[in-house]
Amino acid sequence: MNQRVEGRAKVTGVARYPSDIPLERTAYAYLVTSAVARGRIVRIDLDAARSVPGVIEIFTHENLAGAYKSPPGPVGGANTTSLESAQIWHDGQIVAVVVAETYEAARDAAYRVRIEYEAETPSASFDSAGVTTEDASEADEDHEDERTGDPERALADAAVKVDTWYETPAQHHNAIELFTTTCEWNGGKLTVYEPSQFVHGLRARIARQLDLQLDDVRVISPLVGGAFGGKSAGTHRTALVALASKRLGRPVKLVATRDQGFTIATYRAETRHHLRIGASRDGKLQALVHEGWELTSRPSNYFNGGAEATSRVYACANVATKIRIVHADRNTPGFMRSPAEFPYVYALECAMDELAVALGIDPIELRRRNDTRVEPIGGLPYTSRSLMRCYEEAARSFGWERRDPRIGSMRDGEWLIGWGCATTLYPSNYGASSARVRLLPTGRVRVETAAHELGQGTSTALGLIVAERLGVDVANVDVILGDSDLPTAGLAAGSSHLSSVGPAVALACDRLAARVRRGEKMNGSLEEYAENFPSGVDRGAMKRLREGIPSIQGGNMDDRAQYAFGAELVEVRVHARTREIRVPRIVAAFGAGKIVSPVTAQGQFIGGLVWGIGSALLEKTEVEPRSARYINDNFADYLIATNADAQEIEAIVIPEEDAQVNALGAKGIGELANTGTAAAIANAVYHATGVRVRHLPIRIEDLL
Ligand code: MOS
Repeated sequence: MNQRVEGRAKVTGVARYPSDIPLERTAYAYLVTSAVARGRIVRIDLDAARSVPGVIEIFTHENLAGAYKSPPGPVGGANTTSLESAQIWHDGQIVAVVVAETYEAARDAAYRVRIEYEAETPSASFDSAGVTTEDASEADEDHEDERTGDPERALADAAVKVDTWYETPAQHHNAIELFTTTCEWNGGKLTVYEPSQFVHGLRARIARQLDLQLDDVRVISPLVGGAFGGKSAGTHRTALVALASKRLGRPVKLVATRDQGFTIATYRAETRHHLRIGASRDGKLQALVHEGWELTSRPSNYFNGGAEATSRVYACANVATKIRIVHADRNTPGFMRSPAEFPYVYALECAMDELAVALGIDPIELRRRNDTRVEPIGGLPYTSRSLMRCYEEAARSFGWERRDPRIGSMRDGEWLIGWGCATTLYPSNYGASSARVRLLPTGRVRVETAAHELGQGTSTALGLIVAERLGVDVANVDVILGDSDLPTAGLAAGSSHLSSVGPAVALACDRLAARVRRGEKMNGSLEEYAENFPSGVDRGAMKRLREGIPSIQGGNMDDRAQYAFGAELVEVRVHARTREIRVPRIVAAFGAGKIVSPVTAQGQFIGGLVWGIGSALLEKTEVEPRSARYINDNFADYLIATNADAQEIEAIVIPEEDAQVNALGAKGIGELANTGTAAAIANAVYHATGVRVRHLPIRIEDLL
């Protein structure tokens, strides 16, 4: 049996990603991006570029303005523009698209495009002159900061206090598959080949940008080579390639370069956190105040808002959160694996460790004393919460009882050993979806839904659902995904995809099975179509999905809180002289409802933990403060965790039954694992060295 149904195609090179699909007479696009971060284009000289043999056309705002509308920001609202006018919003903004007979000619010409700017001094990040700050509740009328009890008073009265600041860096999407778009027109109909987490969303956005009907656009994305949120929001490139293709009357393909991916797509922006916690001497939380600051572009109101989750992790009668967004001359950020929770949980879980140290209580014991069955803001019950079971199982496997709490006490020769832990959590989300399942006379089963295989396991998990429901071998199931002509399936994000699409597939299978049981004869094939509208999602959601509006909900619901929890225990080794930091061991345990696809779930857990190691020790986009430019926009300088950084990793699944969370009883797991890892590592580094590093990544120089 294939453990991943698309695995063989991938490792043998048969798999076709969107830019691999060959089209006749394809012309090649290459982007020219802005060399300044703020200002205006005053002159464009294309003579040298046009003289390169093979160049077909060069698009700039001078010949595209008016034909094109820039896409909205990741959650709607204003966004930076490209080729609509002479305005420059950020470094690396698309300022021209060169199209040529070959990729090489297009690239050669792109380097010969001469652009003169009227440059202004940009504001690069939090501490730059010229940034503006606004309350998230002003930027987004749907956002409300959390509040319960009297946190200021409780803080003043608390016997033990922690008052600390934390910082997380910008991180950029570096999936193996680059950001690509290929467009082809057939009469008035446009086909877009582009890796996407939401083919119907991309279709709707392009239709709006180019003034087309939905039916005039088709988006094809059969496989995505890693997305992590980076292929969910609208980027400028798609409509630009579509327009180029239309004007030239032939297919146009763009494969943006690795460094361009840093500025033409979204990313995780830097954040700051002020945590104030008050507790009684026996470790019960009395007050929790979590303030967050998030960077965004000049026009966008995008922010993560992860305090919605961090305000609800532990029992506490007095809680307040406040989120502010800071506008700078940067490209618009967006979703990146556990976008909201990752930076906020990092801050909370480091602060909890500081509290444990201040109290002299074991950090797992501190979590136990503040465990809760109801979330403290609305008083709503968790549908299930296995947090302490996770700590118990992880601690047993890890050998936590042998931990000596004294700083630097656990030493192995030249290596200082630190053991740290953190809670991880992620809201259990779902949305509307639909699917068609067909039983063929050959005995094969064909599943069709516009869901997405990003490498996370959608095809395998859906195949396993069919196999279980229809009693067939998963090898006889063909899972066809990633095409806007297929039944609508929503956005593959927020760890919601299987919980959204799985129930529709299961329902279609159950109807088919009933027909077979009734003895219905096969005339050709038997087919069933089913829609999934989970509780709280109205039937209009399907139409809205086709209009590009996601229906995802979860986490804090009207009558309940649904989250997956986990416990992450890590060992770090810090070299006593060089201060080299290693993570030889992670043991994590997760309570995430029913695990539909054990093999791909392990991949998600371990992948998330490895990303957590990268976040803790390696990953950071360096923003040059004077030019507001990303410095390390390549794989040599932008460090990510690789095999040598990840040693022993164990992901334990805690059995958990949850009939309320959705029809499958499965909680989303894609974003669960990496949410707590960085804090666990930071806490272990403190235990090893006594140095409390309150920013990511933690580097050798922080420990000297
Ligand atoms: Mo994920 S960052 O919700 O695509």
